[in-house]
Amino acid sequence: MKTLLQLNTNTNKTPTLPVTEIEHTAFCKTEDELPAQPLQDELKINIRWQEIPIEYLKLTVEELDKRIARARLSLGDRLMILGHHYQRDEVIKYADVRGDSYLLSKSAATNSKADYVVFCGVHFMAETARILASDHQTIILPNITAGCSMADMAPTDDVLDAWDDLMGILEDQSIVPVTYMNSTAEIKALCGRNGGIVCTSSNAEDVFKWAFQKGNRILFLPDQHLGRNTGLKMGIPKESMIVWNPFKRMGGHSEEEYNKARVILWRGHCAVHTRFTVGQIEMARQRFPDIRVIVHPECTSEVVDASDINGSTEVIIREIEQASSGSTWAVGTEISLVNRLAKENPDKNIFCLDPVVCPCSTMYRIHPAYLAWVVEALVNGVVVNEIKVEPEIAEHARIALKSMLSV
Ligand code: 13P
Ligand code: SF4
Repeated sequence: MKTLLQLNTNTNKTPTLPVTEIEHTAFCKTEDELPAQPLQDELKINIRWQEIPIEYLKLTVEELDKRIARARLSLGDRLMILGHHYQRDEVIKYADVRGDSYLLSKSAATNSKADYVVFCGVHFMAETARILASDHQTIILPNITAGCSMADMAPTDDVLDAWDDLMGILEDQSIVPVTYMNSTAEIKALCGRNGGIVCTSSNAEDVFKWAFQKGNRILFLPDQHLGRNTGLKMGIPKESMIVWNPFKRMGGHSEEEYNKARVILWRGHCAVHTRFTVGQIEMARQRFPDIRVIVHPECTSEVVDASDINGSTEVIIREIEQASSGSTWAVGTEISLVNRLAKENPDKNIFCLDPVVCPCSTMYRIHPAYLAWVVEALVNGVVVNEIKVEPEIAEHARIALKSMLSV
């Protein structure tokens, strides 16, 4: 066992929110509709956007639409576009496959035909596609600043340090590292190297069962809420799940507390899903007594408790599509998906639990101008924004991802 002096935990760190988290509020608007504007107008939102050739700045959405369609036609089967459900309408319309993180990672692992995979989603998703796709395929993220604030809350070095510290603290070392897909490739590799696994919100419960067959304890990264909600579903008491705070000495708990805990949760959260509150659910129920409330498991456990159903984006879509005509739904997930569900299910009354319209600011960075830029470059034989992962990292991350795909 290590002495306290040997522990890696840096006690002098100043708690800071990732820039991507601070930038989220810049995207909150009051209108329910979020039609794409020419990129030069959207750039007025004071956040980091990737530089793009000037000719794309002024193009209208209609002009961009024609150019993307033309490039796509010319690339034919050599191009596959993957789109996460949180993408804007003006982008998701081009997706050959639409899905949640789980479905899209499966598509990347099984569709080896296309030479180019353009991932309309966020960085960790494109990185996962890189790890799972065939070597001859090139993976492209249209805007390299499309990260994820939750993933940014688990910097790789902090996680590696915490893992070493836990190895020094725990008397029973049968701890299984489990990381949510929303994390760096290096963290997935840490899991692969140490008998761990990746999960998404679609399979978190099955992954927990898998992990508890291999060990007595789980380190869950980086979303404390998905980890806690999954543990609660499996009957693990809240008191047996403690949070590792990277800004506190030894994560903020005593050795005894870690040795008692069944789940150690990383202190991360999603800025979009933690906006939903029990008060919003109560208000929705007062307005519509027969309402069904459905939320994503990245919401807090109080919100999940107060809802009727919780599940990944695929579950949310399926439940609403299968619901009876005339039913009313309050949905606790990203607004682009909620608006799309409302449009695609006109026989139902569907609205977002949060009255303020706050899209995921990183998903939103995939403006159609960026999609046009990368596909037109491909037509001209130029690859922009290729996503690469170091071979050693990819090898170990692949082990953890393949374990997930086999669960
Ligand atoms: P899904 O796994 O449901 O696609 O969620 C990914 C995500 O980032 C949700 O915030
Ligand atoms: Fe990350 Fe939340 Fe956006 Fe999902 S919705 S990509 S978890 S910030």
